[in-house]
Amino acid sequence: MNNKFSLGFSSLDKEVVIDELPIKGVVPSWLSGTLVRNGPAKFEVGEKKMNHWFDGFAMLHKFSFKNGKVSYANKFLESKAYKYTKEHGKINYSEFATDPCRSIFKRFTQVFFPKITDNTNVNISRIADEFVAFTETPLPIKFDLKTLKSLGVFNYDDKLKGMLTTAHPHYDFEKKEGINYITNFSAKITYNVYSLPDSTKSQLNATVKRNLISSVSVREAAYMHSFGMTKNYIILAEFPLFMNPFKLLFGEVFVKSLKWKDKGTNFIIIDRKTGKVKGQHRTESFFAFHHINAFEQDDQIVIDIAAYKDSSIIDYLYLDVLRGEINKNLIIDNEFRRYTILLADTDSLVSYKLIGNNSIELPRINYALKNTKDYQFVYGISLNKDNGIFFNQLIKINVKENKEGTSLMPQIWEEDDCYPGEPVFIKSPEAKNEDDGIILSVVLNSKKQNSFLLILDAISFQEIARAEVPHHIPFGFHGQFYNFV
Ligand code: CO
Repeated sequence: MNNKFSLGFSSLDKEVVIDELPIKGVVPSWLSGTLVRNGPAKFEVGEKKMNHWFDGFAMLHKFSFKNGKVSYANKFLESKAYKYTKEHGKINYSEFATDPCRSIFKRFTQVFFPKITDNTNVNISRIADEFVAFTETPLPIKFDLKTLKSLGVFNYDDKLKGMLTTAHPHYDFEKKEGINYITNFSAKITYNVYSLPDSTKSQLNATVKRNLISSVSVREAAYMHSFGMTKNYIILAEFPLFMNPFKLLFGEVFVKSLKWKDKGTNFIIIDRKTGKVKGQHRTESFFAFHHINAFEQDDQIVIDIAAYKDSSIIDYLYLDVLRGEINKNLIIDNEFRRYTILLADTDSLVSYKLIGNNSIELPRINYALKNTKDYQFVYGISLNKDNGIFFNQLIKINVKENKEGTSLMPQIWEEDDCYPGEPVFIKSPEAKNEDDGIILSVVLNSKKQNSFLLILDAISFQEIARAEVPHHIPFGFHGQFYNFV
């Protein structure tokens, strides 16, 4: 392992429960609840090594806050893929870029989408009062927030079909419904956008039915990790990174089914009420994992996105590159772009402007207050190139411009040898402004060989406390905060 931060890409085998972490600083006494985070934590099975960051077996980590104290626990998610590995000492499910080494014969005898993984290592959500872990295959896994024990697959009571979804559902606080989409490959390839109303939740034996909002037929399906939403529209940014279902049919790993075709990006705007495609708007080829926010302004839709020039970022996230084990330079080069679409033109060419000059990933906003609305602040991880090659700082970006029309200086948190994870915003109880609250981020300290939970004041972006974890926490993806301890 050659890169300083390689520890963040090495396995954590121990599952622990720690009632009280040592704290430096003062944790706000009003902070009460639990941050649950998801991410890969096991990168090898016996002699066999996983290939890609996205392949590792999911582990849940939780930090609970009460009366200024912080507890911690972690547990592997008991997916079928993980359980098989534990029992048999080998891989039996196809992960993002690691396959189980089946014989050619076996590959051909597998049915369509053979043994695709249920290793839900990307995000956390709640469906019908259950806590679930998500990945991009359609079956979430339920877990108990108190014990982190897995409770089996979450099944919907409907017939909505599809093989690939996102681990980034949206939530509409006014309509009280979740929104997501699922890509279905059959005679026709369709993006099926659906809503999941809260009204189906909470009642005993209630059914959990997704309502199809729109089914958009396409010739090829793009790989889209997230999507945008405004008050009236769903935005699918169709990057020219397309999936070939036949490759999956013949047992290829997911990443090998993806093909970059430099033919531009297509914004598909779907009317949430009618389900009709309002417009398709072309722009240059680019790729992104994460939409940041989107909103309507007069006769325009504004779409903020953490954009890469192409999909080569996926190749840089192979574990041997990230760990510096092979002779390939890790390049992380993304930017905060704001695309503006004129709604009246149904097939216009779209352009963007940059917001600031910094890279941003794992972006978060004050979602409850500002999702689908004009907003001011984004938090994310970012790269200070003078100081390293992997995300080594937290950033707070003010998306509003100063009077001269130029970007305002971002606020930065950084510390030597430290590699922060996704910053989660939690509003303070009597918040008056968008950024009244705190930021929680799990940070790897490569020098001390452990991780800590960092608490920043979201306004000043200064540290107010940290809670030290005795071991390292492998770099994760996403987490959510719930008001339960
Ligand atoms: Co994501």
